[in-house]
Amino acid sequence: MQRENPVPINDLRRLYAAHADVIEQAALDALRSGWWLNGPRGKAFSEAFAGYLGVSDCVLVANGTDALELALRAILGDRDAGRHEIVTVANAGGYTTTAARQVGLVPVYADIEAGSQLLAIDAAVGALTAGTIAVVATHLYGNAVDIPALRQAIDRAGFGNVMVVEDCAQSHGARIGARMTGSMGDVATFSFYPTKNLGAMGDGGALVTGNSGLAASARKLQQYGWSAKYEIAHRGGRNSRMDEVQAAILSAMLPHLDINNAERRRILDRYEAATRTAVRFIDRNEGAVVHLAVALSDDRDGFRASLSQRGVASEIHYPILDTDQPGWVALPRREGPAGIPVSRKNASAIVSLPCFPGMTEAEIDRVVAAISDWEAR
Ligand SMILES: Cc1ncc(COP(=O)(O)O)c(C=O)c1O
Repeated sequence: MQRENPVPINDLRRLYAAHADVIEQAALDALRSGWWLNGPRGKAFSEAFAGYLGVSDCVLVANGTDALELALRAILGDRDAGRHEIVTVANAGGYTTTAARQVGLVPVYADIEAGSQLLAIDAAVGALTAGTIAVVATHLYGNAVDIPALRQAIDRAGFGNVMVVEDCAQSHGARIGARMTGSMGDVATFSFYPTKNLGAMGDGGALVTGNSGLAASARKLQQYGWSAKYEIAHRGGRNSRMDEVQAAILSAMLPHLDINNAERRRILDRYEAATRTAVRFIDRNEGAVVHLAVALSDDRDGFRASLSQRGVASEIHYPILDTDQPGWVALPRREGPAGIPVSRKNASAIVSLPCFPGMTEAEIDRVVAAISDWEAR
């Protein structure tokens, strides 16, 4: 008997094939224009994306980690990093910590909610000190942190000067009520890494904000710290920009974002209907999108082995907490006063299943059957 191909965790060739005509036209036009950086296609995409989110400013940069770094640098301004801190979570892949370390800020880790895996607002507020300059809330797996509630809690605790950064690398198109993720904090960052809900065909990122001062700072910092051509008036500048080919491709793909998000959601709905007690998908709020189909399982390794036997790929996002990354053990960091027990417990229970636009019905059925088999064992 011929074995079926495994169900992959993702297959970007299918996304490409579904949109090849518009992608190829967009890329070809950009290449033939002879204008490959800082041109009209970047301007068009930044305006379209700002319009989609309902924000005034969108600064295109090279990737999502740069966007986080530039956001933190813009917030820090002319202050020395010194012992200044940011509060964030330890379970979101390390990108915020990487950015904070580039700027010289100390990461302070707050715990997450058990059901959603998102930053727990109480824990974030409990971790604030006089040295905190920002809370970075990651909308992990497509699920949205309630930013207005976070803002209110921070203000109520007397930290009105602390800024809120939304990391939207996994939440393109997600909402809290009527407001898009990326439009509620002081500043927000996006990655357009190819597997993201809105992905480029290479690297890309954006910083978005309704704060004109932060936008102006970010624009200078992304371009060497220039105040005018060849005049460096701001320290901490560097080069980070998106090329015109990627911007053109993103403009071509933006109109498909909501449709592709609905497709991911439909797939996860199918999986959720097959779960009983052994596997539980993480809680999603009303306006959430699905970036990854992440479940919790007490016997995660057994479940993964069973999936693999049935030809279903799985992954772990993310296997190592920021607090435990070997390269960072000697660097300054701390946990909030309540520690991070939920983050620690769930790191050994999370597992991501295939969920991407272009999955066939037969593949979705196979994943559903594999979940059902594990539940029935
Ligand atoms: C939550 C989160 N933040 C930030 C990033 C960083 O984005 P990039 O890979 O474009 O630097 C990613 C993904 O890679 C991410 O998943």
